[in-house]
Amino acid sequence: MTEEARRTRTAFVKPRLIAGNWKMHLTATEAAAFVRAFRRALPPGVDADILLIPPFTALDAVRRARRDDDAFGLGAQDLHWEPEGAYTGAVSGPMLKDAGCRAVIIGHSERRRLFGDTDADVNRKLKAAVRHDLAPILCVGETPEERDAGRTEQVVGTQLRRGLHDVALDQLAGLTIAYEPVWAIGTGQAADVRQVEAVHASLRAMLTAEWGAVGGDARIIYGGSVSTHNARDFFGSPEINGALVGKTCLDPDGFATLCQFASSA
Ligand code: PGA
Repeated sequence: MTEEARRTRTAFVKPRLIAGNWKMHLTATEAAAFVRAFRRALPPGVDADILLIPPFTALDAVRRARRDDDAFGLGAQDLHWEPEGAYTGAVSGPMLKDAGCRAVIIGHSERRRLFGDTDADVNRKLKAAVRHDLAPILCVGETPEERDAGRTEQVVGTQLRRGLHDVALDQLAGLTIAYEPVWAIGTGQAADVRQVEAVHASLRAMLTAEWGAVGGDARIIYGGSVSTHNARDFFGSPEINGALVGKTCLDPDGFATLCQFASSA
């Protein structure tokens, strides 16, 4: 596939990406109701790429509830690097693609911390995602101890380099990096916008230094307690190309409000 063809198939096109990571919430039945409520809440003409990222069991329910003219797409929370095989409990890239996904989260800190995903696993998963035309959302972020030790940029830089190790340049179109400080996730304590800007700028500089044009094309979004109270501060910054949202995305009205803020920022 040519780079142009790949870009057209996987790249996001709007100024900002708002991705709602449902984590382990909502049954398939609840998911269908969510889609109906979210559609009602979302104002017409919202100018943002929007992803609903439900658990695997609700992917089909969201796809069925979705209409062709809906302004949101579907993503997955994780994938296995093999296309198929004896991997009990795992889901592969081709399965996600067939389920209607266009993107997949890779290396979320909960996967790293609770399920033991290493940087090498993250790298294998990222390569599998691009192989199957799923836009990767690569998560990086430091722990509170690493932040306090002044190691944030070093930690996220290492995660970035290892995550993208040996990935062909032409496969990186459509890449999104989600900077998610571990201490900000699910705590109600979002990072400071200026600090986020500094980390994003360092990630972009690293991308540009090592992968050239990819650095300019990649989206760098922020995640960690983004809410209707603080989202406008983040979306007001040119360094912050959107948000990966946990808790607030489970409320259809709140998530629609975030999408509206992202559109008008
Ligand atoms: P949060 O989760 O918005 O609940 O902090 C963000 C995430 O884990 O992606």
